[in-house]
Amino acid sequence: MKRFSLCMIIMICMISILLAACGRVADTEESGISDDDKYIVVGLSQVGAESDWRVADSESMKQTFTEEKGYRLLFDDARQKQENQIGAVRKYIQQRVDYIVLMPVGEDGWDSVLQEARHAGIPVIVVDRMVNVKDSSLVTAHVGADFYSEGKKAVEWIEGRYPSGRNLHIVHIQGTLGSTAQIGRTAALDDALSKHPEWQLLARMDGDFTQAKTYEAMSDYLENAPVRPIIDVVYCENDNEAFGAIEALEAQGYLCGQGGVSVISFDATHDALVAVKNGKLSLCVECNPMLGPLVENVIQEIEAGKVPEKNHYVEEAVFTQNDVTDELLESREY
Ligand code: AHR
Repeated sequence: MKRFSLCMIIMICMISILLAACGRVADTEESGISDDDKYIVVGLSQVGAESDWRVADSESMKQTFTEEKGYRLLFDDARQKQENQIGAVRKYIQQRVDYIVLMPVGEDGWDSVLQEARHAGIPVIVVDRMVNVKDSSLVTAHVGADFYSEGKKAVEWIEGRYPSGRNLHIVHIQGTLGSTAQIGRTAALDDALSKHPEWQLLARMDGDFTQAKTYEAMSDYLENAPVRPIIDVVYCENDNEAFGAIEALEAQGYLCGQGGVSVISFDATHDALVAVKNGKLSLCVECNPMLGPLVENVIQEIEAGKVPEKNHYVEEAVFTQNDVTDELLESREY
């Protein structure tokens, strides 16, 4: 009887250990996280892959948050839909990640889910664009660009390029409506339009930061205009929109560059700089997508028990034809 009980106890213990181990594996497989995880787990919600900039930005995050450096990166591509982003953030909360990195598609609609992250005690680092929340302490830190000042750089170039008092005909292609990049770059142009009554806004269209949508919108505008419009400047809110605009303009017989339409864009990714060098793109205002290392600095500060600065802005340059050399193109990371 005694022997039987001992055997039973040993068997029960072994079964319990086995079940516990199975449970942990199941948890790990589902979430990628186990309780004894030795990594800093970062749950990242990315907008999508709509532009060359975005692809470079995702790459920067993946190269930064590697297992060799002690991170486990959970990456979600929201395909430009906010509801997908909210779903991803909720999943990260359930998985009890250490940090949430959010690159929001638009500014509004984040209060509830960021409250949930706060209740779970998970710091939220907002990257690239901003969120518009009632309680700003829901955001631990923000890393990104100053989009209004990027827009101002473009406007200053237009002011320098065209003598004051000259009538100027402008077509404006906006980025994803409601995103910080669109809001800032549009505001800079709007301020300039109210300062310069001689600047005429011929058309404003939504290019959603993509080449295809811009090509369609621009072709539609040019094909359906009652008279062939005289266009001096096309203000595109990113490089991919500029590629689509140039394609549509050229298809309709417009010349882009010196002596023709000045196409302006933001980002300054490699292919756009090639277009600047070739003279088709007149101006590129840089928006740096290599944000991974800056986000890592914020995380390391928190890990060291420090309180990180709230806003981290990146330095950005402006490129015209004279600035783009072969060496620059070869050394360009994105
Ligand atoms: O928010 C940054 C903007 O988003 C970049 O300018 C654009 O290319 C991207 O899609």
